[in-house]
Amino acid sequence: MVKGLVDQCLAGYNGCVLAYGQTASGKTFTMEGSKPTPLHPPPSDPESRGIMLRVAADVVDHIQQTTAAEEEEQSEEITQFSVKATYLEIYQETLKDLLCDSDSQADLRIRIDPDSLSGRELYVQGLTEREVITLEDYVRVAHVGTRRRTVGETDMNNVSSRSHAVLTLTIEQITRRRGGTSPDDISSRKRSKLHLVDLAGSERANSTGATGTRLKEGSSINQSLLTLGNVISALSAPPSGRPAHVSYRDSKLTYLLSDSLGGNALTVMIACVSPASSCYDETLGTLRFAERAKKVKLRATVNVDLQSLRISTLEAEIAQLRQQLESSSSSSLVRRSTRDAHTSTRMPVSSACDAACSSAESQPRKSRWARFTTFFTGIAGRGRRAAATIHVAEQ
Ligand SMILES: Nc1ncnc2c1ncn2[C@@H]1O[C@H](COP(=O)(O)OP(=O)(O)OP(=O)(O)O)[C@@H](O)[C@H]1O
Ligand SMILES: [Mg+2]
Repeated sequence: MVKGLVDQCLAGYNGCVLAYGQTASGKTFTMEGSKPTPLHPPPSDPESRGIMLRVAADVVDHIQQTTAAEEEEQSEEITQFSVKATYLEIYQETLKDLLCDSDSQADLRIRIDPDSLSGRELYVQGLTEREVITLEDYVRVAHVGTRRRTVGETDMNNVSSRSHAVLTLTIEQITRRRGGTSPDDISSRKRSKLHLVDLAGSERANSTGATGTRLKEGSSINQSLLTLGNVISALSAPPSGRPAHVSYRDSKLTYLLSDSLGGNALTVMIACVSPASSCYDETLGTLRFAERAKKVKLRATVNVDLQSLRISTLEAEIAQLRQQLESSSSSSLVRRSTRDAHTSTRMPVSSACDAACSSAESQPRKSRWARFTTFFTGIAGRGRRAAATIHVAEQ
C-alpha cells in the first residue's frame, strides 16, 4: 500500500504515511525497522528495513530505472530528479531539527511560503535540508535522526519515543529537451512532498509509571494527539450547512500536517495495536480513530509548476508577436496582414497574460479524490518477535 503511495508521489502528488497507536504498539519499529546488528546491517537486509528505508529504496529504484530507460530509448525529453530530506521532531510543542549539528537550537517556526505552487504551502524556517541520492544517503539521514530523537524509558516501553518525528522528502522533477539548457527547453516541473510520520504513542501515567519529566512529556503527547483526534473528527463529520471549524492550529503537529490531514495529499495511516488484554481500551480507541480517519476526504492534485509553464507560454507568445511585427514592417505588400498582426499586438498585456494563463491552466491537471487509507498492524504482546498484519482495509 505504501509502495502505491510512493508511485503516486513520484507522479507529482503529495503524500503522507502516519504511524498511530498507543505506546509500545510498534510504531517506531514499523517506521524505522529493527535496529541494525552486525549480522543484519541495513540497507543490505531489506527484510529488516522499516517504512522509511523501504520508501527510500523505491524512490532510488524509480529514479535509476527512469534514467536508464530514457538513456536506452534516447528519448527526446529527459527527466532530472532532485530529492531533499528534512527530519524534525516535535517535542513538547517545540520544533527541533534532527539533522542540525548544533546543540543549542531555538524553537523553529512554521511559515507560509507565498512562492509555493499553491501560494500557502507551509514550511519550517531554518530546517536543514540534505540532498539524498543513494540509499546510503537515506540511511545516514535516518540514523542521524534516530540517534538525536528524544527517547525515554517507561514501564511500558524502554525505548519510548517522547516526541513526534517527521521525515520529509521533497521530490522535484524537471522534464526538459535532451541537451537543452535554456528555460524554454523545460516542458514540465513537478514538486511533491512525502511526509513519513512516527507519532509518539498515547499513554496512561499509571501504566507507564511516568513521573517528573516523563509525566510532562506524556501529557504533552496526549494533548497533541487529542488535537489530532479533534481535527480528524471535524474533517470526517458529515457535511452540514456551514463548513466545520478545523482546529489545525491547536498543535504544531496538526498545523504542520494540515495539508496531509485535510488538503492536497494522499494519506495512509498505519494503526498499530497491541493484542494484550490489558490494552483493550487503547486498542479499541485506536481502531475507532482509524475508522473515523477513513471517512476523511482529501483532494489531491498533481503539483505541476504552472507559474513556470505560464512564463514559457508568455515568452513563446512574445517571440511570435515580435516575429510578426518584424516581417510586417519589412514588407509593404503584407500591409494588410500587418494590420491583423497589429491588432493582436495591441491586445492589452493583461488579456494576453490571461489568454496564456488560461491556456496553461487548461493543461490537464490531474487531481483525484481520495480517502484516508488505513491499515492495522499488531504485535504479539511484549517481548514478541514478529509483526502480524491483522487486516488490510480497502483504499
Ligand atoms: N514486530 C515486532 N517485532 C519485534 N519487536 C518489535 C515489533 N514491534 C515492536 N517491537 C519492539 O517492541 C518495543 C516497542 O516498540 P516501539 O518502540 O516501536 O513502540 P512505539 O509504538 O513506537 O512506542 P512509543 O509510542 O512509546 O514510542 C521495541 O523494543 C521494539 O523493538
Ligand atoms: Mg515510538
